[in-house]
Amino acid sequence: MTYKESLNKENIPRHVAVIMDGNGRWAKQKFGRNRIFGHAKGADSVRNITEACRELGVEYLTLYAFSTENWSRPKTEVNALMKLLVKTIKRETNELNKNGVKLNTIGDIERLPDDCIRHLQEAKETTKNNSKLVLTLALSYSSRWELTKAIKNIAQDAADGKISPSEVNETLIHSYLATKDIPDPELLIRTSGEKRISNYLLWQIAYSELYFTETLWPDFGKEEFFKAIYEFQNRERRFGKISEQLVVK
Ligand code: FPP
Repeated sequence: MTYKESLNKENIPRHVAVIMDGNGRWAKQKFGRNRIFGHAKGADSVRNITEACRELGVEYLTLYAFSTENWSRPKTEVNALMKLLVKTIKRETNELNKNGVKLNTIGDIERLPDDCIRHLQEAKETTKNNSKLVLTLALSYSSRWELTKAIKNIAQDAADGKISPSEVNETLIHSYLATKDIPDPELLIRTSGEKRISNYLLWQIAYSELYFTETLWPDFGKEEFFKAIYEFQNRERRFGKISEQLVVK
């Protein structure tokens, strides 16, 4: 039986977040090629995992495509990643539309090159009425950037008298985050064997299940994704309670 066939269709996570890691190593180890080759293959995995989410009915998929820290990579690699982003958006927008996928971004998008911003905006506009799956690309994103911005805005609104400090609670903080329209992920996947969170969705993953796999991102196909969901379904999510308090479904 495949992992897909083994899944409980009643317990599919609504939101899966992914740290796509291992493109560079994949290219070097498997083909002795440069890192860009790995990223191009990584873009194919993005397509496969988006399809897998549609097949299962996952409603939100959030991918760490470019972190704030990635700006420090060699200029040639940064430029190649930006070009790949534009190429992939151009190639995939029709397909996203056909499959009911709405494109979204989180991050300091203004730092991206102008043509990237333009193509992202166009793709977001074209797909804005789709409602089957929200595909969020975290671009020039880091949690500390997001939290700093949120705290600054909360402080400003308090100073302007729009909110009072006593109103600050988890719901209000959530409403100041880049992910304000997205529920927290139930599952976070990181590929390539690294066991770090790398400044990704730190507030949002408070209760997420973490899944780490040795598989490098370009090799992470649908069945690997279904395996991660299968493992998620076999974990007990207690949210601080004890087993006996959980309602048996
Ligand atoms: C991490 O692998 C990957 C990235 C920093 C970029 C992710 C980009 C893609 C998957 C391709 C394009 C994406 C879209 C949305 C079109 P790494 O380079 O850090 O790998 P390494 O750890 O082996 O060096």
